[in-house]
Amino acid sequence: MDALEAIITRRSTRNYKPDPVESEKIEKVLEAGRQAPSGGNNQTSHFLVIRNRDVLDRLIALTEKAFAGMEITENMYASMKYSVTAAKKGGYVFCYNAPLLIAVANRKDYGNNIADCACALENMMVAANALDLGSCWINQLKWLNEEPEILECLYSLGMKETERVYGAVIIGYPETENGLPNRNLMKLKGNEVTWID
Ligand SMILES: Cc1cc2nc3c(=O)[nH]c(=O)nc-3n(C[C@H](O)[C@H](O)[C@H](O)COP(=O)(O)O)c2cc1C
Repeated sequence: MDALEAIITRRSTRNYKPDPVESEKIEKVLEAGRQAPSGGNNQTSHFLVIRNRDVLDRLIALTEKAFAGMEITENMYASMKYSVTAAKKGGYVFCYNAPLLIAVANRKDYGNNIADCACALENMMVAANALDLGSCWINQLKWLNEEPEILECLYSLGMKETERVYGAVIIGYPETENGLPNRNLMKLKGNEVTWID
């Protein structure tokens, strides 16, 4: 698959087989993330590669607890409202039971932290598509990136106290008939273009 095809056919996958992703493929995805551009070529993104089921389950439980303790407010972001409602009901899983979650952290005092993480995440999602893997951006750990219990868990995994998570991606084999990611082109409803000749 050439680069442009991998970019424009990348779609989010939210249903995964439990099969683990081979380490060689994870390395390739990580290489794509680590080669992403960064402001001033700072290269301060920190990739936490979580494929241990117990750790994933602990993060799922902590995330559910944090959302369940929140109150819904009128102007709350719709996806956040959904997460709070689902967590209060119980059984809330923010990462669709994918076998692999890569959380991208960066220095909390660095102005390009979110931008750098976004570049790395997009590179990794495109690379996953090129490798016939499904992926989806997962934002809950960014929303909850000051939650004390989640911070403690992330510190125990190796995140530095000077860092925060600004985005994450799940990756795995899609639960589709042919095992390949859905690659339908997206119907565009926005992303306006203005040409200035
Ligand atoms: C900043 C950002 C945050 C996102 N957060 C989530 C998320 O937490 N959970 C989720 O299922 N999808 C999330 N997505 C995926 C979007 O919903 C998805 O990219 C969008 O609907 C377009 O669909 P496509 O990825 O299939 O092209 C996020 C995407 C971005 C760029």
